[in-house]
Amino acid sequence: MTKILKADPDAIARAAALLLEGKLVAFGTETVYGLGALATSNTAVAHIFAAKNRPRFNPLISHFASSQAAFAHVEPTDLAYRLAEKFWPGPLTMILPRKSGSTICDLATAGLPTIAVRVPRGKTALALLEAVGEPVAAPSANPSGRVSPSDAFHVLRNMHGRVDAILDSGPCSVGLESTVIDLSREVPFLLRPGGITLEQLETICGTIRNPDDYATKLPSSPGMLASHYAPGLMVRLNAETVDQNEALLAFGATLPGAGLVYNLSESGDLEEAAARLFAGLRFLDGEGQRRGLQTIAAMPVPRHGLGLAILDRLRRAASPRPVAGGDDDLESMIG
Ligand code: TXA
Ligand code: MG
Repeated sequence: MTKILKADPDAIARAAALLLEGKLVAFGTETVYGLGALATSNTAVAHIFAAKNRPRFNPLISHFASSQAAFAHVEPTDLAYRLAEKFWPGPLTMILPRKSGSTICDLATAGLPTIAVRVPRGKTALALLEAVGEPVAAPSANPSGRVSPSDAFHVLRNMHGRVDAILDSGPCSVGLESTVIDLSREVPFLLRPGGITLEQLETICGTIRNPDDYATKLPSSPGMLASHYAPGLMVRLNAETVDQNEALLAFGATLPGAGLVYNLSESGDLEEAAARLFAGLRFLDGEGQRRGLQTIAAMPVPRHGLGLAILDRLRRAASPRPVAGGDDDLESMIG
């Protein structure tokens, strides 16, 4: 049975106790809801892969209550300190070399010599991590390959019975996942655009290549694989016109003629659009299928700031799907 706990101090203490027992707890962060397990326990982390139905053991992000706690497990570079100072707590994940003596289990890192670390900004998430006092591994709390959850209800709908508790802290303020930057190589690499924009990172890191380059050439982060965040309906990008058998994901002034419309931001605000993206895809997919619509048509979004992260998620939602059930069923291998 899945318990829903409204995030108050008692609930946070109960959720922390469950995590310490090796149970699965979904919790809200500023980005998306995470499916948390004790990162130091292979058994606990194995539950994550089972609950998400993810047959491949992809490396997970370890979450901490402070940079100090995070840097106890990795070898931080000067740049890592500067990024932490500027963006933590917040939607940034850093990949750094593992410190010898780190207690994070192999299953959480997929046996890699690096660890993905993040200090989230959500008040509830921080209080939970503080109460656990240990790193918490957490991918997004959705079945593999599906749209990420940006509120507790999304988690309940998709993960009911597969998670021990959901700590409900309301909707996520950022609404899409953290930016992932790899600092373990000679030069910093952006592995996944996200809640911290490229422009923001460049104020600290200097120039970083456009993430568009990475999406096609460097699929070194499993979350970068093409077909991901896939709704059931096919997605068409850069729609300039729309048909009545299509559901429109609008941005700014809407287009006439769609069978169904969800506007990410009528005023063209990228922050608002990011926060509403997954809820919008979910709504158009569910309601669109009920009405027999064929496609989700997505209007263009500006290619700067959070627009890059939104486009990245839309591009994956629009990627051709692998054949379900086959050995190379990509959707079920990622997430
Ligand atoms: O906002 C977020 O980051 C959310 C919340 C819950 O914190 N978490 C999340 O986790 O999106 P997940 O597992 O869906 O994405 C983790 C990403 C994946 O693309 C994974 O491949 C990459 O981080 N990653 C983790 N460890 C890595 C490593 N050692 N080297 C390279 N990539 C790594
Ligand atoms: Mg995910």
